Amino acid sequence: MFHPLRVARVDRLTDDAVALTLTVPPALREEFRFIPGQHLTFRHRAADGTELRRNYSVCTPADAPAGPSELTVGVRHITGGTFSAHVVKEVAPGDTLDVMPPTGRFTLAPRPGHFAAVTGGSGITPVLSMAATLLATEPEARFTLLRADRSAASTMFLEEVADLKDRHPGRLQLVHALSREEQQAGLGSGRLDAARITALLPALLPVGTVAGWYLCGPLGLIDATRQALRDLGVDRERVHTELFHADDAPAAPAPAAETATDATVTATLDGRSGSWPVQPGETLLETVLRNRADAPYACKGGVCGTCRAHLVRGEVHMDRNFALEPEELEAGYVLACQSHPLTGQVELDFDA
Ligand code: FES
Repeated sequence: MFHPLRVARVDRLTDDAVALTLTVPPALREEFRFIPGQHLTFRHRAADGTELRRNYSVCTPADAPAGPSELTVGVRHITGGTFSAHVVKEVAPGDTLDVMPPTGRFTLAPRPGHFAAVTGGSGITPVLSMAATLLATEPEARFTLLRADRSAASTMFLEEVADLKDRHPGRLQLVHALSREEQQAGLGSGRLDAARITALLPALLPVGTVAGWYLCGPLGLIDATRQALRDLGVDRERVHTELFHADDAPAAPAPAAETATDATVTATLDGRSGSWPVQPGETLLETVLRNRADAPYACKGGVCGTCRAHLVRGEVHMDRNFALEPEELEAGYVLACQSHPLTGQVELDFDA
């Protein structure tokens, strides 16, 4: 699952963010092949011994058919973030980090059409890979990027996006909204809210013909853009989202009286099954992890979707869900890190 990868470079992007480039040895290139938009899960042991996992999106293009020789992720130091502080302040070329091969369903495989993204802050990272891969490999594709940042100085991958625009001047349209700087005409100032996005998008592009919308960033921007796209009549199936930061996502815990006491969870993982009692208050992921250290997870916050499993039997309550689409819920998928049993028997299939 996890592989030790060597750090090739650490390039400073802003005061609080770096681009971290890892070398992928030839034997692992096939396994580390990715679709633009996917992320890597890093494993790190904090000073107090607890194991941390964090997801970071690959920002480099997926342009090597045999798999990448290098992978770059953008890491911003967030307040209180143990792993991001470690990467931004301590990690150096030659160090080794434990990394899981790319996963994630927030993806854009190149195809003809007009695609658009709205990003905030570090939400640019997966979208940079999407746009770069799409424009380099699909001559019939166009991309519109509306990115929101506080200031030019705090903007990650400012030059990389400008270079991409220079390489594809007619096919990449870029609008940069800076909330703390004076704006160019038409953009107004301050945060992008639903009303401003609803007014802005039709002026930028033919909204109804966009084949796919990719929203990535903090919850406020994602909610505002979703609202704007709804108001503009865009089909929900064309809108793909990835939330960054679990902290600002609201939760709806199940009333304790409704969760089943003495419940048992049966889980299938890598073809092997087991059944274990669920301790009061714990999530199904916690139950499975106590018995199977290889259970998949990263954020434990209902945001990344790494712990997705198919609910084969029983019922669960999810405290929050910012990862699964309505179709996945309908098909019976749940987030194990957010699930509590509502029935005495619950069965999860992590391989489905
Ligand atoms: S581990 Fe991220 S959603 Fe469950």
